[in-house]
Amino acid sequence: MRKKVIAGNWKMNKLAADAKQFVADAAGKLPKSENVEAIVCAPFLYLPELVKQTEGTDLKIAAQNMHYEENGAFTGEISPSMLKDSGVTHVVIGHSERRQYFAETDETVNKKVHAAFAHELTPIVCVGETLEQREANETNSHVEKQVRAAIAGLAEDQVAETIIAYEPIWAIGTGKTATSEQANEVCTHIRQVVAKNVSEKAAEQLVIQYGGSVKPANVDELLAQSDIDGALVGGASLEVDSFLQLVEAGT
Ligand code: G3P
Repeated sequence: MRKKVIAGNWKMNKLAADAKQFVADAAGKLPKSENVEAIVCAPFLYLPELVKQTEGTDLKIAAQNMHYEENGAFTGEISPSMLKDSGVTHVVIGHSERRQYFAETDETVNKKVHAAFAHELTPIVCVGETLEQREANETNSHVEKQVRAAIAGLAEDQVAETIIAYEPIWAIGTGKTATSEQANEVCTHIRQVVAKNVSEKAAEQLVIQYGGSVKPANVDELLAQSDIDGALVGGASLEVDSFLQLVEAGT
């Protein structure tokens, strides 16, 4: 039985005091359950402090991106070893906003996924279609291309440990959530792609999240779907009570 993984992606939000207060409040009130994993994806600046603050708790801290190179002339970037050194456990890779604004490609996503595993970081790989692609019935083919590119060259056990976050771009930050049927249909397709190209075992173990205007009002229906194992949440993860409700839904 796959754990539910609820990750709050703060994006470029919060100052240090708010970040520390959020984590202190959330870590102390997390539901005690083996069935759910709670993660906060925070800005780079706060990672070491938040990791230290959550030591001994069930709240995990993730980065929202990283470079794939170990070091070098990449001004402003953060390397995989720097993230490992900071103590984070997960890293979001290939978020649609990084693909849209910061030239992230399927090729760089794959390099980052390999670099994450090389540093014992669990990748949360984002995939998803535009509204135009959905309206052109290209959703499954587009998402399949992204998934296959992201996991290319991984060993079976690495694929099994990867978290894939299906985030339809037209649902991100818009308040327009995919219906649970739409979301599950794509997540089922993602699992079938992994079963066909890697193994049934890896497909069965793979955690697939849905992201795109998830909130306490719709999370139960989404998590009840056969192939949705969690959520990657933006806006609704910025307040502690809302975040805790989302985690509670996964128990
Ligand atoms: O990474 C999660 C994010 O893209 C979803 O944002 O605000 O629609 O929950 P939001």
